[in-house]
Amino acid sequence: VNHLLGIKYLDKKDIELIFETADHFKEVINRSIKKVPTLRDTTIANIFFENSTRTKLSFELAEKRLSADVVNFSASQSSVKKGETLIDTVNNILSMKVDMVVMRHPNPGAGIFLSKYVNASIINAGDGAHEHPTQALLDSYSIRERLGDVGGKNVVIVGDILHSRVALSNIFALKLQGANVKVCGPKTLIPKHIESLGVQVETNLRKALEWCDVANMLRVQNERMDISYFPSTREYTQQFGVNKALLNSLDKQIVIMHPGPINRGVEITSDVADSNQSIILEQVENGVAIRMAVIYLLAAKK
Ligand code: CP
Repeated sequence: VNHLLGIKYLDKKDIELIFETADHFKEVINRSIKKVPTLRDTTIANIFFENSTRTKLSFELAEKRLSADVVNFSASQSSVKKGETLIDTVNNILSMKVDMVVMRHPNPGAGIFLSKYVNASIINAGDGAHEHPTQALLDSYSIRERLGDVGGKNVVIVGDILHSRVALSNIFALKLQGANVKVCGPKTLIPKHIESLGVQVETNLRKALEWCDVANMLRVQNERMDISYFPSTREYTQQFGVNKALLNSLDKQIVIMHPGPINRGVEITSDVADSNQSIILEQVENGVAIRMAVIYLLAAKK
């Protein structure tokens, strides 16, 4: 059985194949052919143990555009609340002849754990502070679309690196494709030894922005941290928030990304998020084509 558990398990050729397949699906969608019959015999369960807007809707749309049958499971309204385990939950869903599971879970490694116990393809839709592989794929795909290539580009990931699955998956994906990567944020929110992943640490936001072609702005994940980790929100915004005046003071136009959800006025102001330097909504649009590609390729391998 094949899975997408993390970017860590992919190589450069896998990413290229996903992008070429996504190009095809994006072209199909842009021709207003919103549905292809490819996965008519496949049933997919989206099981979410954590909240989501973009990832959940994007997977569901991708599945429906491939003509798969879809069931949605939200842990907060389920028998998980009565004490049912993850393995029992998923095996019960699979016994209803489900072929593929898309799972978001608060525990790092939840998908890896599950893949050892169940007989279905698992796609990790975010596991705690570990990985969010489809987000990293759609992020790199969006850089490729805007700048022509990811290789050789300077990308800075700004914010709460310590608690971010988006940061880790992006670092793996960007490095595989030959980008230069820096992380920027308060020292308390940057993991020790992150340099061992081939990235550099820059704690001065202006210097990071002067260096980069692309800045990926992350949300501070208050729900994953002890409040003592972290400077106050006001201090954070002063030191690590991006606003229009700061961008205008640079001698070049950099590309601004954000995985969402945005805390407007904290890590990014509205005049940046909504500007033509921002590709935030292109990221969301590309997410559907990327997820169609991932699901299609996994189903084809079975
Ligand atoms: N980017 C992202 O994972 O957003 P959601 O939490 O809304 O799915």
